Amino acid sequence: MSATARKTAPNAQDIRAQKGGVPLVSLTAYTTPMARLMDGHCDFVLVGDSVGMVLHGLSSTLGVTMEMMILHGQAVARGLDRAMLVIDMPFGSYEEDPAQAFRNAARLMAETGAGAVKLEGGVEMAETIRFLVKRGIPVMAHIGLTPQSINTLGGYKVQGRDDQAQAVLADAHAVADAGAFSVVLEKVPATLADRITAEVAIPTIGIGASAGCDGQILVVDDMLGFFTAFKPKFVKRYADLGPLAEAAIAEYAAEVRARSFPAAEHVFGDQAPAKGAKA
Ligand code: KIV
Repeated sequence: MSATARKTAPNAQDIRAQKGGVPLVSLTAYTTPMARLMDGHCDFVLVGDSVGMVLHGLSSTLGVTMEMMILHGQAVARGLDRAMLVIDMPFGSYEEDPAQAFRNAARLMAETGAGAVKLEGGVEMAETIRFLVKRGIPVMAHIGLTPQSINTLGGYKVQGRDDQAQAVLADAHAVADAGAFSVVLEKVPATLADRITAEVAIPTIGIGASAGCDGQILVVDDMLGFFTAFKPKFVKRYADLGPLAEAAIAEYAAEVRARSFPAAEHVFGDQAPAKGAKA
């Protein structure tokens, strides 16, 4: 069913069932008002650990904590009725062993109401994904460029070119076989993304991958032009709201300094207005 026609939020099985159908639509969100804006348009909304860079000014996602994810997850949950809420597991909250991953995934879901968690990693995380899924935690996997591993990947490079392709393909099969209900493919060549989409039974969600994926996701502040520190090639700016917001702030500052704001319509008179008139 299309996101606009739906009355209630889909669950992990519904998302999985959309494999090969109408492309899944997703964005990240970190606040209630932004979640409200996208609720009627997205199949799922991700509280990404990109929140650290986008809203907290961190230089990578590595400093994001469970507490940050829970706070933003709760805010986003208040803005969603029709889209599924998925929440990222932050760096250091799941890699140690499956038991640590279960403890933190269960906490994220219990305290935010998210319907699933997302975690980064392929073959090396398959055992953890299997452990979580068997214990009632739907998992969205994330392979290709995994930003929590930038220190070992050597930066935000395209993953899976040339002789790396087999490794990314193996990651996709490993997470699908382990029971993930979908997999994010970040910054992989389009032909490889298409091959993975054709070979695995779960929906692929592209970000810097291919229009042939089963769905797409973007960081909302990137596509609206609020995050301007850098713009990856895979980002399309659907609006340029950052400069618009700055121009509005500059106009406000100028009016305050010129005493032209507040104007007569923004201040209150001495006497209470007559009944029914505006305060
Ligand atoms: O944290 C995030 O925003 C993400 C998306 C880029 C998929 O993981």
